[in-house]
Amino acid sequence: MGVKSIISGTGSYLPEKILTNADLEKMVDTSDEWIIQRSGIKERHIAADGQTTSDMAIIAARRAMEAANISADQINAIIVATTTPDKTFPAVAVHVQSALGIPHCPAFDVQAVCSGFMYALATADAYIKSGMASTVLVIGAEKMSSIIDWSDRTTCVLFADGAGAVVLEARDAKDDEGLEGQGVLSTHLYANGDGKDLLCTTGGPSCTGDVGFLTMQGKEVFKFAVKYLSEIVGEVLAKNRIHPDQIDWLVPHQANIRIIESTAKKLDMPMDKVVVTIDRHGNTSAASIPLALDEAVRDGRIKRGQLVLMEAMGGGFTWGAVLARF
Ligand SMILES: CC(C)(COP(=O)(O)OP(=O)(O)OC[C@H]1O[C@@H](n2cnc3c(N)ncnc32)[C@H](O)[C@@H]1OP(=O)(O)O)[C@@H](O)C(=O)NCCC(=O)NCCS
Repeated sequence: MGVKSIISGTGSYLPEKILTNADLEKMVDTSDEWIIQRSGIKERHIAADGQTTSDMAIIAARRAMEAANISADQINAIIVATTTPDKTFPAVAVHVQSALGIPHCPAFDVQAVCSGFMYALATADAYIKSGMASTVLVIGAEKMSSIIDWSDRTTCVLFADGAGAVVLEARDAKDDEGLEGQGVLSTHLYANGDGKDLLCTTGGPSCTGDVGFLTMQGKEVFKFAVKYLSEIVGEVLAKNRIHPDQIDWLVPHQANIRIIESTAKKLDMPMDKVVVTIDRHGNTSAASIPLALDEAVRDGRIKRGQLVLMEAMGGGFTWGAVLARF
């Protein structure tokens, strides 16, 4: 009998302030129509001044722990996916540990931008399967507004803030349960560093000494996103020997509705089996998948026992996917 990891609870947090496309029309030369047509975004949440990534991560984590019905002393690893930590160091994960009173354990951040939550979830799953931890708090949290040039219309209309979290717990796995068993079934991670200049920040600790602003060659990134996501969902299907119609829900990273639709098309999945939050959340980078997952779990769409495919692509380039039976 082996060990598997199951998602025992989800939680999320969105800051109060909502920035609409109409608000952005007053800030840069753009239009509601352009933003909706090109990206699918209508509004997004923006953190308050002084509200940090760890502030949001802590609330999302608390909600996931409540949903999983576990206490702080049961957690024995914390992994936070973020590109926008409060400070260059220490990690957001140690802020979470301290605020929630979690006992001494490994606590670290992973940085894979928009694919960060896929990297964090895959790492947490590997921790559990190798016996290094039994209950892992996995968080995606971002204050993307802090690295946006608010005068750059090509990026400021797209990105936003928020946090999502899951509790991943070890359970005994029966050898013969296969695809029908609850828990993480397969994880897939990739990077291609040749894309590093197409989506990046203009600064950083060891080059300019400041955090810089996000810049993106949107059209190029779009092409790679469609290609890599199509490839990776194909790999998930092949590895698990499943047909797309066996997947109950696609929970994609929310960067652009057109990228989401293209992945759904590749999977031949109707859009009513795809969890879409981009219209209200914008692109919250590493937070987008756990935010979408939590929304669909709490509103009753995603039910226990259903098969969920998560996928993301981000700066680096990095991309990843996780197939799990919820
Ligand atoms: C960014 C993105 C929405 C732009 O859409 P697009 O159809 O590629 O549009 P383009 O960049 O070609 O821009 C088209 C025109 O709109 C203009 N434009 C750019 N931003 C604009 C805005 N906010 N409002 C109005 N016009 C805008 C451009 O200047 C360009 O004008 P031009 O033709 O006169 O040069 C799209 O490329 C995208 O989603 N890319 C990938 C994003 C992504 O996945 N990023 C993160 C990965 S995690």
